[in-house]
Amino acid sequence: MDFFADTAVIDDIRELNGYGLLDGVTTNPSLIAKSGGDFLDTIREIAQIVPGPISAEVAATDYAGMMAEAQVLSAIAENVVIKVPLTLDGLKACRALRAAGTQVNVTLCFSINQALLAAKAGATYVSPFIGRLDDINLDGMELIHAIRALYDGQGFDTQILAASIRNPNHVSDAALAGADVATMPPDVIRALVKHPLTDKGLAAFIADWKQTGQKIIK
Ligand code: G3P
Repeated sequence: MDFFADTAVIDDIRELNGYGLLDGVTTNPSLIAKSGGDFLDTIREIAQIVPGPISAEVAATDYAGMMAEAQVLSAIAENVVIKVPLTLDGLKACRALRAAGTQVNVTLCFSINQALLAAKAGATYVSPFIGRLDDINLDGMELIHAIRALYDGQGFDTQILAASIRNPNHVSDAALAGADVATMPPDVIRALVKHPLTDKGLAAFIADWKQTGQKIIK
């Protein structure tokens, strides 16, 4: 499963990429607003840091507007993926962009029928939102399982990009459910490495090593 950072904060992207943890990045209008940066400049900078797919979302909601914005966003860098909403116009834009060889991430997917439509439109990625389904007492992970079964059964190659991930359990569960990608807030990526027994064990090793008075580099 690939790891994408779900953020527009450059410092976080730079740090996590430095650890070799990032296969790509996803952004959305809310994340851009939160970061406070200029949208086009931010995408340009991210695309220079991470060579993998960088999702940049259109702001228009009509087909013509989405296509015009997609042209601007695609021109920023070769690794920009155009993110469109799961609406009729979004699906139409997805189909046209894919026919022109552009990578597309269809976002705001909350049902199996929506995932079916995204795959039929040739989406490179579909983004089911796990956390937001859990928020309203539905089962986000069940949707990931269902999409995996649907795509495998019907032979679709659209990648399942598990989004709206809120905690480390979402990550492991999405991996076990067969998601191709998980996009995660930086703090969730950092939390994946954490275990109290790792910290405790390392502290004991450091203390015992000190007792020996030895040095590896003499
Ligand atoms: O990028 C879309 C998605 O990951 C948003 O997550 O936490 O705002 O539901 P959240």
